[in-house]
Amino acid sequence: MVNDVTSAFEAEDLAEAMLAAPLPRRWRHVRSVARRARWVAKELALSDDLVAAAWLHDIGYAPELVETGFHPLDGARYLRREGIDGQVVSLVAYHSCAQIEADVRGLGAELASEFSPADPVMSDALLYCDMTTGPDGEYVRPADRLVEIRGRYGPDHEVTRFVERAASEILTIAGRVEEMLPAQPR
Ligand SMILES: [Fe+2]
Repeated sequence: MVNDVTSAFEAEDLAEAMLAAPLPRRWRHVRSVARRARWVAKELALSDDLVAAAWLHDIGYAPELVETGFHPLDGARYLRREGIDGQVVSLVAYHSCAQIEADVRGLGAELASEFSPADPVMSDALLYCDMTTGPDGEYVRPADRLVEIRGRYGPDHEVTRFVERAASEILTIAGRVEEMLPAQPR
């Protein structure tokens, strides 16, 4: 039996149970991404799935869920095992240009064969929320977020190679979403 997570509250509970205790910094980031997603969903009249996906996007970092070490895939697989599927899971699987990082890690074919692509408008909105939220939950400009990620992982890491390959797409998407929103981000 396959369900959508229709409730952002359920998504919040699930994410809190998996991330809050073992990864408090990641949890601070996730809470702020979800808060921004609530604002973006309201401003752009998008479905609550955006908020649910924001709560769940980094759930694959939870230590007990690490399988491939690629958190979008590990997280989406976990949600599917839990009987959750549909748009929210696709958004998690492909969040913030994950298909480019999957290619860098040699997991592109696996990701594509297991999860269908996410709605592009929702996917762009989630990228905006993630890329404007720093590791401690503070607002950051997307370009600065990419600099921070590179610095955090160091020059040889797969995440850094991903960021280098995806930077222009990430900045283009984030800029496109930003143009649709009021000037003062929340
Ligand atoms: Fe993520």
